[in-house]
Amino acid sequence: MSLERIESAAELRARVAQWRAAGDRIAFVPTMGNLHRGHLALIEQARGLAQRVICSIFVNPTQFGPNEDYSRYPRTLEGDAAALDAARCDLLFLPSVEVMYPLGIERAVKVEVPGLSNVLCGAHRPGHFAGVATVVARLFNLAQPDLAVFGSKDFQQLQVIRHMVSDLGFPLQIVAGDTVRETDGLAMSSRNQYLDVEQRQRAARIFETLQSMARRSQAGEAQIQVETWANAALEAEGFTVDYAVLRQPDNLVEPDALGPGTRVALIAARLGATRLIDNLSFACS
Ligand code: PAF
Repeated sequence: MSLERIESAAELRARVAQWRAAGDRIAFVPTMGNLHRGHLALIEQARGLAQRVICSIFVNPTQFGPNEDYSRYPRTLEGDAAALDAARCDLLFLPSVEVMYPLGIERAVKVEVPGLSNVLCGAHRPGHFAGVATVVARLFNLAQPDLAVFGSKDFQQLQVIRHMVSDLGFPLQIVAGDTVRETDGLAMSSRNQYLDVEQRQRAARIFETLQSMARRSQAGEAQIQVETWANAALEAEGFTVDYAVLRQPDNLVEPDALGPGTRVALIAARLGATRLIDNLSFACS
């Protein structure tokens, strides 16, 4: 296995400095591990954009709420490392909680992205995006990449990170990776494995509903009608719906009227204890 594993900030900095001195462009893919084909597509995309690819695996405690799945989040390090090696990732960064939060979690400096962090998933998961922005900011400072690749399934996370990078002037490019789907349309996610057989079948309804929302909007149906329909359709299938909405992609505010422009349909819905999210961008003429 040629994949190098590094746990300390100092060793990571030294390796990155060495690569930089050799003139290599460095791409970074931050993850929480339990890697699936969606993550590996991000690594492949990174591979095409840089000479060196770093992947981090860190299950970040500050982005989980008190009743969420932090302790049972799947941890599959050896399988992940083998998959990264096969994908020709150069370096796996595996920091501990102490490396990521040297002052301790209570005393850690927090990065808040107002507005974008408080709607949709942020409204249902208070503190979640501050946890994400904080850990990603620190990872960026440790790895100092030229670019970082994030999956589009977590659309709001992508917009929060873009906003943070632009506002704090991080000298790197954020690249969006396409969502990878199962054959029935379900977006790949580490949380899909929590679903039982029957829930797994029903989960495909999320992507079907997003597609119908896009079609209805494109046909001129009013936003409120589309959203009401989507909520009812998902509830009829046994989902508990956090939101099923149409938004403007950049700022996630409601479109004034469904005139020309790009829109994004976003859904977060639960099957039992499992919370699934997905989204679909589309153009309205
Ligand atoms: O998308 C994820 O896996 C996480 O939110 C991230 C970006 C690695 C931060 O912990």
